[in-house]
Amino acid sequence: MAAAIGESGNDEVIDEVISMSDDVISMLLEDADATDALGAALARTRPPRGVLHLHGDLGAGKSTLARALLRALGVTGAIRSPTYTLVERYPLAAGGEAWHLDLYRIGHGGELEFLGLDSDEATLWLVEWPERGGGYLPVPDLRVDLDVAGLGRRANVIAVTEDGHAWLERLQAVKPTPVAADS
Ligand SMILES: Nc1ncnc2c1ncn2[C@@H]1O[C@H](COP(=O)(O)OP(=O)(O)OP(=O)(O)O)[C@@H](O)[C@H]1O
Ligand SMILES: [Mg+2]
Repeated sequence: MAAAIGESGNDEVIDEVISMSDDVISMLLEDADATDALGAALARTRPPRGVLHLHGDLGAGKSTLARALLRALGVTGAIRSPTYTLVERYPLAAGGEAWHLDLYRIGHGGELEFLGLDSDEATLWLVEWPERGGGYLPVPDLRVDLDVAGLGRRANVIAVTEDGHAWLERLQAVKPTPVAADS
């Protein structure tokens, strides 16, 4: 059983943090609610402009995380999977737009050019299957690697840019103390 760190009722907390460093937080997400909590924490700590790459196999929880992030930013309408449209855009109450991309079905990263994606309007990029975008995507500030772990998921949140490191630092500030992975 994961440590009941969520007992406080604080939706920022994650089930179980395995380790932290300046570059990565590694955690276990016991169920989809824990993935939602990570999404909400990422939303709350995001920079004014941020790029988040979501890595993981089919069913790893990338869309769950993206949806939770968008909900936490006040998106109330339908959140469709961009599997076929490649991108869905959401105006944010705070200004700017969140762009949710799913590049699973893209043939070549060059297809992104036809979407007119290099816009200043995107204040947040959430990209599933970013490895399929070739060099046509902005560099991520943070990348999240999701893997199936038992019935839950393991998440590694990795800082890439300077903004990403600051983002990770704020995320760590809302995290509980690390616990041993085998507890
Ligand atoms: N931490 C978790 N523990 C257990 N199940 C989870 C967790 N997070 C998400 N899930 C579940 O995993 C399933 C697949 O999630 P999701 O659709 O987000 O995956 P995905 O990575 O976007 O897949 P795809 O690449 O096919 O788009 C959903 O049923 C979701 O509720
Ligand atoms: Mg998905």
